[in-house]
Amino acid sequence: MKVLVLHGPNLNLLGQREPERYGTTTLADIDDRLTSRASERGASVECRQSNHEGELIDLIQAARGAFDGLLINPAAYTHTSVGIRDALLAAGVPAVEVHLTNVYAREPFRHTSYLADVVVGRVMGFGASSYLLGLDGLLDLLHTAPGAP
Ligand code: DQA
Repeated sequence: MKVLVLHGPNLNLLGQREPERYGTTTLADIDDRLTSRASERGASVECRQSNHEGELIDLIQAARGAFDGLLINPAAYTHTSVGIRDALLAAGVPAVEVHLTNVYAREPFRHTSYLADVVVGRVMGFGASSYLLGLDGLLDLLHTAPGAP
């Protein structure tokens, strides 16, 4: 199983960015943990980060036929991007939405996700562990129902 991991805007700053909220784990640490976890499970991950909506859309489009699943923290684009939502629908690759923080415990504008109803599942509020939980859930699902929307 091959999983594409996408990190949205400002996540390149993890470790330095609002550490009281997002923790001190860096994005490289998260990617390392995901790589190890995937390999323990006989799977692989490719991890990409972009601050640009169009680049994320290009990567999602290219995932069709190239990856079995997608793990995405769209960051701020969660709350704004019809383009990323449409790309997920077009790609048809099962996706899990992850967030480091519990967005429902934050400002009201973060309570809306344009992706919530087009992903197979969502994990939030567990810091870096959200990604690992999301990867495990996605791999479990892919093993039981490969190609599920
Ligand atoms: C985030 C939550 C978003 O609201 C925010 O814009 C982020 C990070 C999270 O992982 O908790 O950049 O996606």
